[in-house]
Amino acid sequence: MTAFKTLGQFIIERQKDFPYAKGELSRLLRDIGIAAKIVNREINKAGLVDILGDAGSSNIQGESQKKLDIYANEQFIAALRSGGECCIVVSEENDEYLVIDSDISNEANYVVALDPLDGSSNIDVNVGVGTIFSIYRRKSDTGKHSTNEDVLQLGTEQVAAGYVIYGSSTMLVYTTGKGVNGFTLDPSIGEFCLSHPNMTVPAAGTIYSINEGNYIHFPDGVKKYIKYCQVEDPDTNRPYTSRYTGSMVADIHRTLIKGGIFIYPPTTGAKKGKLRLIYECNPMAYIIEQAGGKASDGYKRIMEIEVRELHQRSSIFIGSMDMVLKAEEFMSSFS
Ligand code: AHG
Ligand code: MN
Ligand code: MN
Ligand code: MN
Repeated sequence: MTAFKTLGQFIIERQKDFPYAKGELSRLLRDIGIAAKIVNREINKAGLVDILGDAGSSNIQGESQKKLDIYANEQFIAALRSGGECCIVVSEENDEYLVIDSDISNEANYVVALDPLDGSSNIDVNVGVGTIFSIYRRKSDTGKHSTNEDVLQLGTEQVAAGYVIYGSSTMLVYTTGKGVNGFTLDPSIGEFCLSHPNMTVPAAGTIYSINEGNYIHFPDGVKKYIKYCQVEDPDTNRPYTSRYTGSMVADIHRTLIKGGIFIYPPTTGAKKGKLRLIYECNPMAYIIEQAGGKASDGYKRIMEIEVRELHQRSSIFIGSMDMVLKAEEFMSSFS
């Protein structure tokens, strides 16, 4: 009996969790794991090979794409295409949704939304970056052309969500609606191994995570909450600590493990917030809720926000239950 459990073994073991399990979702998760290992290999060489810096192109978000944004996007799409379980890919790096048009994929039942590389601005300075994924069952009939109804689904329709963090070690964390489990890549065997079973967010935390450089543009409720975090009150362990990396995956991963709250509120530059609903906010909301935390836009549950367009943005308040509830109090009292 090996002392460890690989991602593949765990996925197969948990397959009985799905009523309609025919192994398709298991194979899809395996395909994502393979792409993560390939991207991880390239990130670990970054600096030694010509994979850093700008690609010289920009995406629909108006961001200049990094070479690694494009490389990661290509690797995940290639793995999904060859795996045959995915019929559509929504990606931060693709203007429109991508129909995986092949005879095997036309019968595929799953839609995958991807942020292939999150925290791109940090790549060149070696700060943790990640990949975020969200999985839905297709709504359109199999074999028929995939449609908007397949890609603009409510966050509550997700069947799985996860992220990879390429940091001091590389981890894959995911949920299929039965809790959250974390796997650490063991490079010596090239396998993700179960290292963080049943991850839960501490209900109370002492870390707040927000880009205070935008302070003057924040709504009053956010300003008042930040001041609340900074007030001396030993009974409630304040002042809290401030931590912000500029990579959503790294900030959320810390929040999941240590507790805390991550906030990306509206700013004058991003009136609806900066983070994208389909491939950043919804998957992270699913994971954090499954771990016992909370995720809203300051007022409304993230996963119940109507999805109207592919690259729709949302504010996000996510993390420890008590901290998000307190921040929402300030939002409803002052904004
Ligand atoms: P991406 O690299 O996928 O475009 O995402 C970047 C996001 C997210 O990772 C992070 O939380 C946020 O941008 C940081 O934004 P600011 O630099 O405006 O704080
Ligand atoms: Mn980007
Ligand atoms: Mn991102
Ligand atoms: Mn990205």
